[in-house]
Amino acid sequence: MGGGIAQTCAQSGYETIVREVNQLLLDRGLARIYSAWDMMASKGKLTQGQVDENRSRLHGTLTIEDFADCDLVIEAVIENMEEKLRLFPTLDRILQPGALLLTNTSSLNVTQMGAVTKRPDKVCGLHFFNPAPVMKLVEIVRTISTSDETIESVRQFALSLGKTPVLAKDTAGFIVNFLLIPYLLAAIRMLENGMASRDDIDAAMKLGCGYPMGPFTLLDYVGLDTTMWAAEAIYDEYKDPLYAPPPLLRRMVQSGMYGKKSGKGFYEYQ
Ligand code: CAA
Repeated sequence: MGGGIAQTCAQSGYETIVREVNQLLLDRGLARIYSAWDMMASKGKLTQGQVDENRSRLHGTLTIEDFADCDLVIEAVIENMEEKLRLFPTLDRILQPGALLLTNTSSLNVTQMGAVTKRPDKVCGLHFFNPAPVMKLVEIVRTISTSDETIESVRQFALSLGKTPVLAKDTAGFIVNFLLIPYLLAAIRMLENGMASRDDIDAAMKLGCGYPMGPFTLLDYVGLDTTMWAAEAIYDEYKDPLYAPPPLLRRMVQSGMYGKKSGKGFYEYQ
């Protein structure tokens, strides 16, 4: 997700710094972005000059202090609150006082992230959708402390990325995952209960409802771990059984079957 967001920012004209936790992941992430731009050039969507400009605007780093002069930072680490609560005070200390601090969380509590900084008025959610360079939506998530000025700046920023922003309150799941997660979990329960096969459920929703992907293809695409964390966060907030991760999802995540990114989920990938 972080790579897709960095790609989107750089190709929209922003000087962009992207940080990874080690050189291997950084090299892999940058290579994926470069190949997306090459693919866009081969389809005539970018000129070679634009590809070169995009590349020169995108800077990879392993050092968090390199964010010191950024006007806006989008956190996109794993969906783990402890990780986020460790990172936010560090970023708060490094960034200039006027900088905005955004999170790409899909369902975790943004208010809590703002509360561990000295700039809660400048903290909000900016939730992208997979694949970030392609999907038109972003959710702007407003906490009880986010200022009007921050929301307006983030709205303008989202528009400058070519996205359509929607505004959501900081309640678990925001808009999309509050609706999407029960659908995905229901598909897993159908499979667990033997009501239909994986392929038939996917074909039914693709061909019957015109969805671009069936639920199992989408689960693998989003990541089973990410889906489980999102479901747990919403379940924690509302205790609604609709959001309780089904046993099969838990077992698959425990077995390292994360979907496309790990090579195996409901489908297998090379
Ligand atoms: N950069 C630029 N362009 C890209 C790209 C990238 N990284 N990746 C794909 N594209 C472009 C392709 O070049 C292609 O462009 P053209 O149509 O002009 O040729 C277009 O996107 C479509 O890609 P493909 O032809 O490769 O594949 P497709 O037509 O099957 O579409 C898809 C792929 C866009 C992913 C489509 O299947 C889809 O919309 N799936 C549903 C995705 C979805 O629901 N995402 C949200 C998940 S929820 C989430 O992310 C949030 C969360 O918190 C869980």
